[in-house]
Amino acid sequence: MKAIVVYESHWGNTAAIARAIAEGIGPAARALSTAEAVGDALAGVDLIVAGAPLLGFSLPTEAMVKSLAGNAGRDPTPPDLSHPALRVWLAALPAGSGAAAAFETRIWWSPGSAAKTALSSLVQKGYQSAAKPQRFIVQGKYGPLRAGELERARRWGAELAQAVG
Ligand SMILES: Cc1cc2nc3c(=O)[nH]c(=O)nc-3n(C[C@H](O)[C@H](O)[C@H](O)COP(=O)(O)O)c2cc1C
Repeated sequence: MKAIVVYESHWGNTAAIARAIAEGIGPAARALSTAEAVGDALAGVDLIVAGAPLLGFSLPTEAMVKSLAGNAGRDPTPPDLSHPALRVWLAALPAGSGAAAAFETRIWWSPGSAAKTALSSLVQKGYQSAAKPQRFIVQGKYGPLRAGELERARRWGAELAQAVG
């Protein structure tokens, strides 16, 4: 089973979860940024797992990502803006019929869901939902991940691999 875990990540939390999910799925899975998950990387993929941070109570918009650049100096570390927003990647993704799942990283109490929006977008393109949208929790606005979240992500990856076969 070939799988990709594609992510948008500006401070590394979502990328770390994506790598842990890919580990859990197994050797046939790769964690790729939205810039890397294009062309040949999409060929013959049986499972797409899409992940993004919850920013401004939603799957980040292009405007939100652009605004992160304007924060330079106020953030503890500068945001990684080297790859497109997951929303943009999803809009460009060709229709397909493979399995799909989605996750987000977020603060525990926040309203809104990035993963629900991402999964709906995949389902609209013909992909089959393999799991409920998942949330992985960070402790502060920029992270770090709450203790145990990487292990939980690995377990979820293994569950996905089992569900999709
Ligand atoms: C500008 C900004 C807006 C955010 N908005 C929300 C939000 O609405 N809800 C939430 O739960 N977390 C919010 N967060 C926290 C991020 O979702 C969290 O830090 C996430 O793990 C960042 O992912 P990344 O490190 O992969 O970029 C926000 C963080 C920043 C910097």
